[in-house]
Amino acid sequence: MNHPKQQDPVTEGLCEPSGSRRTFFKRATGAAVALIGMGLAVPLIGYLVSPAFKRRRQAWVEVGDVAGLTVGEPKQLDYLQVVRDGWLTTKLHKAIWAVKQADGQVTVFSPLCTHLGCSYRWDDPDKRFMCPCHGSVYDAAGKVLGGPAPRRLDVLPSKVENGKLFVIYKEFKAGLTKSVEL
Ligand code: FES
Repeated sequence: MNHPKQQDPVTEGLCEPSGSRRTFFKRATGAAVALIGMGLAVPLIGYLVSPAFKRRRQAWVEVGDVAGLTVGEPKQLDYLQVVRDGWLTTKLHKAIWAVKQADGQVTVFSPLCTHLGCSYRWDDPDKRFMCPCHGSVYDAAGKVLGGPAPRRLDVLPSKVENGKLFVIYKEFKAGLTKSVEL
């Protein structure tokens, strides 16, 4: 007796996922890809924008009494800056150069040479700032007098309140003709 040949539901294509099932798998795959993408994108965006937020967190720091400054004579002022990075709090030793003007205003210079970032010093006999690394020379107003420095000394934001000098410490890219904040 001949039995009719039985059809295999899989090989004969009779058991394909229904339309709604296929749609479900497509959506689930899309959602998984989107989640993975977000998981990668969020840290990347944080990495890219965090320097901007860090920059905004800079605060005024008291660095000394204005009464201790003499007109036209640069003075190095040292202070400790508290830096908070996440859960970590660090105290950094900083130094700036302050110059009192005849009108009582105070100009504050970044302590880093604009050539390659070495620390410079005030040469009192010659009345000029000297950088020991490659010989850049600046006057008391920060103007370049000689050497490879590409621009004048960088000026830091400063203010005087109740006889105290406050600054916002910043760093700038070395070797450029214009001040560009890091
Ligand atoms: S770093 Fe000052 S002259 Fe080069």
